[in-house]
Amino acid sequence: MKRFEQAEVMGKLPEQFFAKLVKKVSQYVEQGYDVINLGQGNPDQPTPNHIVDALKEGADNPAYHKYSPFRGHSFLKQAAADFYKREYGVTLDPEKEVAVLFGGKTGLVELSQCYLNSGDIALVPDPGYPDYWSGIAMAGAKMETMPLLAENAFLPDYDRLEENVLQEAKLMFLNYPNNPTAGVATKDFFEETVELAKKHDILVCHDFAYGAIGFEGKKPVSFLEVDGAKEVGIEIYTLSKTYNMAGWRVGFAVGNEQVIESINLLQDHFYVSLFGAVQHAAAAALNESQECVDELVETYEKRRNAFIGRLRENGWNVDAPKGSFFCWLPVPEGYTSETFADHLLEKAHVVVAPGVGFGKEGDKYVRAGLLTSEERLIEAADRIAKVIKKIG
Ligand SMILES: Cc1ncc(COP(=O)(O)O)c(C=O)c1O
Repeated sequence: MKRFEQAEVMGKLPEQFFAKLVKKVSQYVEQGYDVINLGQGNPDQPTPNHIVDALKEGADNPAYHKYSPFRGHSFLKQAAADFYKREYGVTLDPEKEVAVLFGGKTGLVELSQCYLNSGDIALVPDPGYPDYWSGIAMAGAKMETMPLLAENAFLPDYDRLEENVLQEAKLMFLNYPNNPTAGVATKDFFEETVELAKKHDILVCHDFAYGAIGFEGKKPVSFLEVDGAKEVGIEIYTLSKTYNMAGWRVGFAVGNEQVIESINLLQDHFYVSLFGAVQHAAAAALNESQECVDELVETYEKRRNAFIGRLRENGWNVDAPKGSFFCWLPVPEGYTSETFADHLLEKAHVVVAPGVGFGKEGDKYVRAGLLTSEERLIEAADRIAKVIKKIG
């Protein structure tokens, strides 16, 4: 067999679970139902004007019509370093400890290619963001899961990991504020992580995609704020959620110099860096007033209060998220996450993401995104609560 025979790696890529959901939803929309879609993670609001203006300005600059410097413009790496200093008190060398990325997703997948060989072990949270699996599968490596349970505030319990797994594991993915559980990390937890990583020589990758979104005045903690974090790992930051820039594909990895060099080296062979105008606008986002971020967090918090408040008023006493823009709702007795999501779609015309799409431990939950207006969220809460009452 030769004609267009695919490389083995293609067969190892995990199924895109949520593609199935999109198909089901479109069937209901096509039939004319008033569907409220809380199933996706795509920020619903536009990028702030000053960032769009910076992109336009950049597009008019002929210097940006040429290839960008291989590892990104220095002004963007400096902006990332200044952002970390200002927001988290973390000092970074912009040339050695910052790598410019085509969005967080790219960095997450690349990291596994940089550090995992076939058969190596990587630790992933369960439930967790499926792109960790993609990179691990591409590298031909194996996953060991760390359950994120409600009784442990959705933090992994390192004591439950087997000694031989810890001995062998090369890489660990963490993500707080967490998608999908909406749990947040504490400094103590990150300190424990650094200790574990040092003891077992594990490279830690903290995915800080929802780093800007913490509720009740509590700013999420950066992994790099903890002593020794830079010795054991990196953090991946994206502009997608903080500035509603998901379509722009821009983020950066920060932290351990050796790891940053590896990511840059791999990227030297895939890309010439991002369009200069995007880098110019990204630097503007990081450097200029952060009022737009405060407003965004306020909007999500109001939505959270409206949605969770209404579910509670209707007699369903669910937990409110502490960070991210997701609510992690427990599935009633007798349902799996998929059957419950199907039931909500059918009876309430509300779309939620079945938790099993994020891993086995997610099967007791569905994820609802706060990515529509308060009004629609209240309507969704009323419809969901009605279904819950009927289930009894
Ligand atoms: C947990 C988590 N990590 C990373 C990403 C990737 O974001 P991007 O590739 O847009 O930077 C997302 C996006 O939904 C996410 O939810």
